[in-house]
Amino acid sequence: MKWIYRHPSLYNLMDSVCSLFLADRVRRKVFSSIRASSLIEIGVGSGKNMALLSAPVRAGVDTSLEMLKFARGRFRGLHVFAGDAVRLPLKDGGFEVSVLCYVLRGLSRPVEAVREALRVSTRVVIIDYDRPCFIPRFIWDTVISGFGRAVYGSRDLDFAALEKLGASKEVLKYYGGLYRVMILSAR
Ligand SMILES: C[S@@+](CC[C@H](N)C(=O)[O-])C[C@H]1O[C@@H](n2cnc3c(N)ncnc32)[C@H](O)[C@@H]1O
Repeated sequence: MKWIYRHPSLYNLMDSVCSLFLADRVRRKVFSSIRASSLIEIGVGSGKNMALLSAPVRAGVDTSLEMLKFARGRFRGLHVFAGDAVRLPLKDGGFEVSVLCYVLRGLSRPVEAVREALRVSTRVVIIDYDRPCFIPRFIWDTVISGFGRAVYGSRDLDFAALEKLGASKEVLKYYGGLYRVMILSAR
């Protein structure tokens, strides 16, 4: 596990500052319109999204115990538990919505994680980032992706492959395609 995931407050600061606060803006745009009776965030981290997501039942899973402790401390009534995104200890379709926000790039098996999210919920909301057309490939690979790899363990995602996993999909792009949002429904 990358060291940053053991330091929730530092994660919060770096996530906001290094993205020039765009990551937070996209969170606000997307999550303000999500309504659900129950939701789970997979890779809940410090709970940044839980401040924006409302539902009668909310749960968060993460591999970092430090992140889980921090998130639980912020939100009373939030159910948190340790678990791996690709093997969730949950029954099929137990949640209406699952959220994967800035998580998939850090996983070695992102396709399996999306399949697992589709198994445990009827709708999956994914937010992540990708190289936008206005950033040259060389700059992206060396500077931005290089930083992401070193700090977050992230790698580029095959968004086209992920989109195919849902029975239906809605795709949104923000800031020239730098941020991608996918809302997939389970089969
Ligand atoms: C970049 S942070 C995103 C946190 C939060 N979703 C957000 O939007 O701020 C990625 C989170 O995924 C967690 N994580 C990494 N690998 C995981 C896995 N295999 N299963 C579940 N969580 C994982 C990390 O511990 C970290 O908290």
